[in-house]
Amino acid sequence: MIGKICGTGAYVPAHVVDNHDLSRIVDTNDTWIRERTGVARRHIIENDTTVSMAVKAARQAIEQSGISPEEIDLILVSTISSEVILPCTACEVQKELGAVNATGFDLNAACTGFVFAYNTAQAYLTAGMYHTALIIGAESLSNLINWKDRSTCILFGDGAGAAVLRAEEGAVYPAVTHSDGLKGAALTCMSRHRQGRNEEGEDMESYMQMDGQSVFKFAVKKVPEVIEELLEKAGIGIEEIDYFILHQANRRIVEAVAKRLKADIEKFPMNLEEYGNTSSASIPILLDEMNREGRLKKGQKLIISGFGAGLSWGASLLEW
Ligand code: ACO
Repeated sequence: MIGKICGTGAYVPAHVVDNHDLSRIVDTNDTWIRERTGVARRHIIENDTTVSMAVKAARQAIEQSGISPEEIDLILVSTISSEVILPCTACEVQKELGAVNATGFDLNAACTGFVFAYNTAQAYLTAGMYHTALIIGAESLSNLINWKDRSTCILFGDGAGAAVLRAEEGAVYPAVTHSDGLKGAALTCMSRHRQGRNEEGEDMESYMQMDGQSVFKFAVKKVPEVIEELLEKAGIGIEEIDYFILHQANRRIVEAVAKRLKADIEKFPMNLEEYGNTSSASIPILLDEMNREGRLKKGQKLIISGFGAGLSWGASLLEW
């Protein structure tokens, strides 16, 4: 058995903040942001929440898959930015969708989250424990950003993406995943209840803090490595892959990965110019965009690959 994607969906808030808007808040400019990251705009929540965006993306995926919410027996939500800790986002989504037969839980693996959620769903579906899974990446990163910190506030955006997977006969495709907790300090965010002062009397802020250069170096080394590891495990050549759908963090990272793999950059679709880095939502938003544009054809081979806090990284092979 294997889980096949039979529907996708995405949602981003209507409110757009472009680079010029940010240059009025912090000392930055459109040229610097575009050249260093490739980002021009990001969509930021006004009335939405992580749950409401997840539900809107999920409804589209369910509609496209032609199933009813009652048929879903697993809901996995990857998020680092839910407004509430309890109940989990997946259970809130279940309630809103009326997916009364589903078991739901959240998963925190930052920007690698959607890849890990996809693999987790595959493990359950291939084992026969569940048959229809809804996987979602949903993030309200604007709530975790220090809007006075120009090194991070220019990077991120809000949004959600979803996919429905159904178990069907077929061979399992491989995945490769890694974590390295020893390097966790490169990308951190305190929970709100830890806000205040630490034992040394220093201010502890519940904002995302990132050593951008370390994360950049980690990504351009580890992502090509994990993709090569995956290709070797699958026993297929890189030329057989139709698209590499990478986490949308930075255009320079995507270009460096393509270069290291000696692969055609045309096979690395990007939409980060419009949305910025939406963490675990970036891969499913891009997947949905490509699906709805008719760019994905039956039988094509795709690799999805994420990287981020933890540190964590991974890649999965799938056939459309
Ligand atoms: N506008 C203008 N200047 C800036 C800005 C800004 N927004 N931010 C930093 N600068 C300045 C710096 O102060 C520095 O100035 P200096 O040379 O006078 O000291 C200069 O620009 C260069 O700064 P760097 O940090 O070296 O810039 P870099 O080229 O590394 O780009 C960036 C920074 C875009 C953050 C890059 O390091 C990056 O993309 N890192 C990876 C981030 C990522 O992929 N995260 C993914 C995981 S996210 C997750 O898991 C939630």
